[in-house]
Amino acid sequence: MGGQVWLTALGVSLLTLLGLLLRPWHSVTIPPSVQPAPLNRTGDGIRFKYDSSCDMQLNAGGWVGISHVSCEPSTKGVATCGPGHSDNWQWSAAAVKCGAQRTTRSQLQGALRNRWVVVAGDSITRFFYAALLRALTDDESQQVVFGHQDFEHDLDDNVRLTFRWAPYAENLTHILQAWTAHSEAPTSVVMSAGLWHMLHITDALGYQQTLGNLKSAASRFMSAQPSSRQPYLSLFSISEVYPPKFKTEEKRAHMTLGEVDAYNRAIMNSSVLVPSGPLHLLDMHHLTQGCGPACTHDGLHYSNATYDAAMQIWANHLLLSLSQETSRKLMLG
Ligand SMILES: *[C@@H]1O[C@H](CO)[C@@H](O)[C@H](O)[C@H]1NC(C)=O
Ligand SMILES: *[C@@H]1O[C@H](CO)[C@@H](O)[C@H](O)[C@H]1NC(C)=O
Ligand SMILES: *[C@@H]1O[C@H](CO)[C@@H](O)[C@H](O)[C@H]1NC(C)=O
Ligand SMILES: *[C@@H]1O[C@H](CO)[C@@H](O)[C@H](O)[C@H]1NC(C)=O
Repeated sequence: MGGQVWLTALGVSLLTLLGLLLRPWHSVTIPPSVQPAPLNRTGDGIRFKYDSSCDMQLNAGGWVGISHVSCEPSTKGVATCGPGHSDNWQWSAAAVKCGAQRTTRSQLQGALRNRWVVVAGDSITRFFYAALLRALTDDESQQVVFGHQDFEHDLDDNVRLTFRWAPYAENLTHILQAWTAHSEAPTSVVMSAGLWHMLHITDALGYQQTLGNLKSAASRFMSAQPSSRQPYLSLFSISEVYPPKFKTEEKRAHMTLGEVDAYNRAIMNSSVLVPSGPLHLLDMHHLTQGCGPACTHDGLHYSNATYDAAMQIWANHLLLSLSQETSRKLMLG
């Protein structure tokens, strides 16, 4: 008798559990994102101001801070989705209004068919390059990218991807100059440089000058391209650092939160960014600071989800710029 009651109770709890498990996820509303308090900052430090352009607004969002968002059509306002607390980065309402949505592999493949994307810069861009490979292929042998070297990938649909190791802004300037001289032009170039300058030279004003040269080279490169087919150039802001996790004394001495702010101010002051310059901001500082110390193992490089989110922001930038290219072509007849 007692055993039967117990069994019934067990059955009921199993059914309840099953019901919970089977509850459709899209009925869960995702709360507004939570930003952890930045360490040792009196404020947030330097913040890039987003004007009302969609190009800027696509950078806006935050980490959701709930433990699971499933990747399904109803959650497409979330750039990255996964099981962990810091796997889910969600666009702001303004970004969603601009059409921000998580791009699928087939959308990305379609957009990149017969195109060439170059990622050039330091290790931060190399992690971004890995995110791009993860988005486009499941072939793990294609996903191994490490060290101070270049990579080249030819994927399905004639998608060509190139990584160029170019840790200083001067290196990026040279790459752009060579393309201008040889009339070569990728569809999109993703760039980041600053951490090596911060570590080995530690002079934000000097960095600002090198960005001035990058701006000139990028402007000349753009004017050499037909107006109907302007490459999309992106520049990363400097990632947040967490000095207690640094592995070397040299990094602790030179890569401080104050220097991160100074180097980001150098990017702002250099007028290399749209609308004064030709480079579009991909706000890595906002992404990495939002994810916080738990997302970085060495104080400098962040979780895969961080670079996946950056890749999603870039992909939305690119889709927006390609749609504008199409309408320009239609207008030109
Ligand atoms: C991050 O992605 C790479 C492939 O790009 C993979 O090899 C690695 O295991 C991933 N790291 C984690 C912690 O999942
Ligand atoms: C990058 O620039 C630095 C400083 O100008 C130079 O020493 C280095 O050889 C360059 N590296 C590459 C890969 O071009
Ligand atoms: C914050 O400041 C304390 C004391 O000055 C220092 O020990 C700690 O490493 C700092 N943390 C960061 C992230 O800079
Ligand atoms: C940027 O501009 C501000 C205000 O004009 C100036 O104080 C600063 O030295 C400039 N450069 C950097 C790297 O902060």
